[in-house]
Amino acid sequence: KRVAVVFGGRSGEHEVSCKSALSIVRYLDRSRYEVVPVRITPNGTWVFGADAGTPEELDLEGLLDLTKETGEVALTSLADAIGTMRESDVIFPAIHGPYGEDGTIQSVLEMVRLPYVGSGVFASAAGMDKEFTKKLLVAEGLPVADGVVLRGGKGTLTAEEKERLGLPVFVKPSRAGSSLGVSKVDDWGRLDAALTEARDSDAKVLVEEMVHGREVDLGVLEHPDGSLQVGPPLEIRFPDKHTFFDYEAKYLDPSTIFDIPARLEPAIIERLQDLSVRAFRALECRGLLRVDFFLRYGTEPVINEVNTFPGFTAVSQYPQMFRVAGLDYPALCDVLIRTALA
Ligand code: DAL
Ligand code: MG
Repeated sequence: KRVAVVFGGRSGEHEVSCKSALSIVRYLDRSRYEVVPVRITPNGTWVFGADAGTPEELDLEGLLDLTKETGEVALTSLADAIGTMRESDVIFPAIHGPYGEDGTIQSVLEMVRLPYVGSGVFASAAGMDKEFTKKLLVAEGLPVADGVVLRGGKGTLTAEEKERLGLPVFVKPSRAGSSLGVSKVDDWGRLDAALTEARDSDAKVLVEEMVHGREVDLGVLEHPDGSLQVGPPLEIRFPDKHTFFDYEAKYLDPSTIFDIPARLEPAIIERLQDLSVRAFRALECRGLLRVDFFLRYGTEPVINEVNTFPGFTAVSQYPQMFRVAGLDYPALCDVLIRTALA
């Protein structure tokens, strides 16, 4: 089978996506799959690369080189890109953030009936937008943090809302990832600056109460027969100098560590796994989902957010959880592709 791995994209997570794609291109089982890397540049040009000769030796520079905008197959027209994608059996959208993880690519692939890895249009759109993720989860009775939505690039909290949420609060663009545009506000005098920063990414902003407790992620994986597997919980630990799990703590600090399985009581693990499956179903996801929790006071789960295409380098949370569950990276990709084709 031929797999087109589509990555990059127009969001602020372009670089993170390139790294996720590098692992996929490198480690996909070449005895089963032929791999075509397809990069969407930050300005939206689609570039089809040649298959990587010796993929295990491919590095980030090599991947970008294979998919250079000046290459012969660089395309600006979506129609041409679709034509070229049709030469593949399945598409692996390895894009994070808006214009990729939010249902836009998924809708194009639906229109032309190309099978693809991961969630469909609705779940991708709902999962990208923290306002609607929370609304759907709440409707299913799932626990989320209290928050206020500010729309249209304007407005701030009322005195009552400040009183209700209390300090600190987190200010987040509603549709973004990797903590881009997110700040922690410890002093109401800093709120305006935080709103301005979040509004650089999205005119719709969420201000949420801080949930004090441990930070634990779970992964849900759909197998080709439709059964769901939930991986072991992963606890995130990062040095105190980061005030929260921000972009730097996520990608640049080598002392951030993941404990898998997280040291938690069996009853709590069971509850987290149950909530993760319910979140997967509440959003009508497909293929995969990473559900990120806070454990209020260390024990009471609150769903912080979901990621329909979570970070996917070989050392990212989701692949690491499944590695501990017994599925190594190539096997995990294989399940995702077979589910997409089922
Ligand atoms: N949005 C990043 C890639 C993550 O969820 O891991
Ligand atoms: Mg996210």
